[in-house]
Amino acid sequence: MTSPAHAAKIIDGKAFAEALRGRIGAHVTRLGRQHGLVPGLAVVLVGEDPASQVYVRSKGRQAEACGIRSIDHRLAADTTEADLLALVEQLNQDPAIHGILVQLPLPPQIDPARVINAIAPDKDVDGFHVINAGRLATGQRTGPEAATVPCTPLGALMLLRDRLGDLIGRDALVLGRSNIVGRPMAQLLIQESCTVTVAHSKTQDLAAKCRAADILVAAVGRPELVRGDWIKPGATVIDVGINRISAPTPEKPDGTRLVGDVAFAEAIEIAGAITPVPGGIGPMTIACLLANSLTAACRQNGLAPPQL
Ligand code: GUN
Repeated sequence: MTSPAHAAKIIDGKAFAEALRGRIGAHVTRLGRQHGLVPGLAVVLVGEDPASQVYVRSKGRQAEACGIRSIDHRLAADTTEADLLALVEQLNQDPAIHGILVQLPLPPQIDPARVINAIAPDKDVDGFHVINAGRLATGQRTGPEAATVPCTPLGALMLLRDRLGDLIGRDALVLGRSNIVGRPMAQLLIQESCTVTVAHSKTQDLAAKCRAADILVAAVGRPELVRGDWIKPGATVIDVGINRISAPTPEKPDGTRLVGDVAFAEAIEIAGAITPVPGGIGPMTIACLLANSLTAACRQNGLAPPQL
């Protein structure tokens, strides 16, 4: 049972994402009525990675529910880099496509950086292109040349701002340094005037560094690495990890369950607020992809993107 005290600490990313998708849908409807414009999102999946297939299906379904036209391109696992680059170029040139997402990971014969950097920066709705990473790192967040911010850190920032208001002067620890989450998350928090520490697998005395953080973002993909006693009392914890672990029961001896990078049951006793897994950051990632697609469609048509 969740006590009322615990319930108040849970950051409901699922509900926030649902409301955000509602606002996106309303703007998409207005864009169609006023400008005859339907945002188009191309999602490219190479190979048959089961987790990627689930994500891609979910992205397509939620895009369509918001009125965004979603076009899937499914390519065989042995697709060459040249063939994938040719598809990206075709999508770059297609005026009905405003956002391009190439699902990662890619098979080993394909260099992901080469493919990501072949996407037109204005259509890069993942925000992974070096131009967008550079715009974010230099604090370029407004105007027609604003960075497209990667979806997971953008979702995390929205939840933090919703919970805490402004983040000025807070001590933030980002656990993880990936290009998809850790690095862009650190850049966003610097821009919010936090004092940011980036920790990773080689960090010394990780527990002590976590204990100093008012805001802790865990994105390392290590099940329940962060323990309750690593958390500063009252801190806000964003758990980006989605790890499937074995959880056998008498009825299901090969049962599994999803856990985050934070030991949730311990952490909720200490934290001021925490995102659950599932139902925290996961739904925000897709909602932010749709937000980035809407923004891209507006910009490519000389329209001011809506404030979401
Ligand atoms: N693989 C895991 N997360 C992501 C993401 O946010 N975007 C893409 N393109 N691939 C991913």
